Amino acid sequence: MHHYQIAIIVGSLRKDSFNRKLASAIVKLAPSDFSLTMVQIGDLPLYNQDDDENPAEPVRRMKQEIQAADGILIVTPEYNRSIPGVLKNALDQGSRPPGQSVWAGKPAGILGISPGAAGTAMAQQHLRNVLSFLDVSVLRQPEAYLQVREGMFDDAGNIGEASRKFLQNWMDHYIAWIEKHGEQ
Ligand code: FNR
Repeated sequence: MHHYQIAIIVGSLRKDSFNRKLASAIVKLAPSDFSLTMVQIGDLPLYNQDDDENPAEPVRRMKQEIQAADGILIVTPEYNRSIPGVLKNALDQGSRPPGQSVWAGKPAGILGISPGAAGTAMAQQHLRNVLSFLDVSVLRQPEAYLQVREGMFDDAGNIGEASRKFLQNWMDHYIAWIEKHGEQ
């Protein structure tokens, strides 16, 4: 049986990030033949095309981690109706130099949570745009736009009762999406 490795990227560097909590909690909804591991992006330098031939160590590390993964899971906040700069920076870093993108052909899923009612919908739409150009196959349905609510997470950091069924359904579809790509 193949053991799937999933690289999780969180689009927030904030210590108490809701999106980081969501990423940590949703890992527990995955089956045992999946390992989901967070990839750090906070130590990446700002992308500079001059560095393409000699990328910084954190860039090399991140690219290796993505390359080794069977799939990607991006969990991101919405900043000013788009994706945070740190996430775009990571996507740019991984996409260069030409012909050496680590994103191409990877299957992915995207999630996001916000205190706002629109639940990161616009950021996710922008992210789909970028990932489409990077030749990443993003799970289309179900979509998951989550609003921070009382009881979203329990004291142990699990998904709270009210959202568990919805997110388990999302995870089941995501797992099937990754497996389907693995068979191709
Ligand atoms: C925000 N926030 C926000 N929320 C939203 O729903 N739509 C938006 O466009 C924005 N814009 C925005 C810009 C900037 C610069 C910041 C710092 C914040 C609020 C945001 O959803 C909130 O701070 C979340 O808690 C951020 O996610 P993490 O860090 O908790 O994962």
